[in-house]
Amino acid sequence: MLKEITVTVNGEKHTLEVEPRLLLVHMIRELLNLTGTHIGCDTSSCGACTILMDGKSVKSCTILAVQANGKSLTTIEAVAVNGELSALQEGFKENHGLHCGFCTPGMILRATELLANNPNPTEEEIRWGISGNLCRCTGYNNIVKAIIYAGAKMRGEELPSTEPQFV
Ligand code: FES
Ligand code: FES
Repeated sequence: MLKEITVTVNGEKHTLEVEPRLLLVHMIRELLNLTGTHIGCDTSSCGACTILMDGKSVKSCTILAVQANGKSLTTIEAVAVNGELSALQEGFKENHGLHCGFCTPGMILRATELLANNPNPTEEEIRWGISGNLCRCTGYNNIVKAIIYAGAKMRGEELPSTEPQFV
């Protein structure tokens, strides 16, 4: 039996009829065609499906669509505003924080909440903060640099070097 839910996604209100067992990630991708939210594992391990729900980062494969009733969701499609990259998107671009890009939408949404709660995190806090999001390409160093860069940009401070570091 279908259940009617109302969700606000990227500022737009949607009323949808969904199966009670439908996962939120499938609602986002298949009913709303917002395919920037990825599915890596479907078992809450990888974080590729991370979105913001009422400002909090959540793995949308662990939530039923009916549980999002009345909530406000943000997906990667709404992170750039008027064609301008967000500080985090710019940080990932400038610091080579992505290779294949599969983890990137989830990383950016997770980092969005991280910086909202802690605008000047240490490297260790960043590494802990993104520990629920897996990246199989980058080795994480450039993702951490990207988040440090975005934090500096958001605080209006001098931007750190984007030169590659060899360790
Ligand atoms: S697809 Fe949701 S955590 Fe991997
Ligand atoms: S850039 Fe490929 S999984 Fe992270």
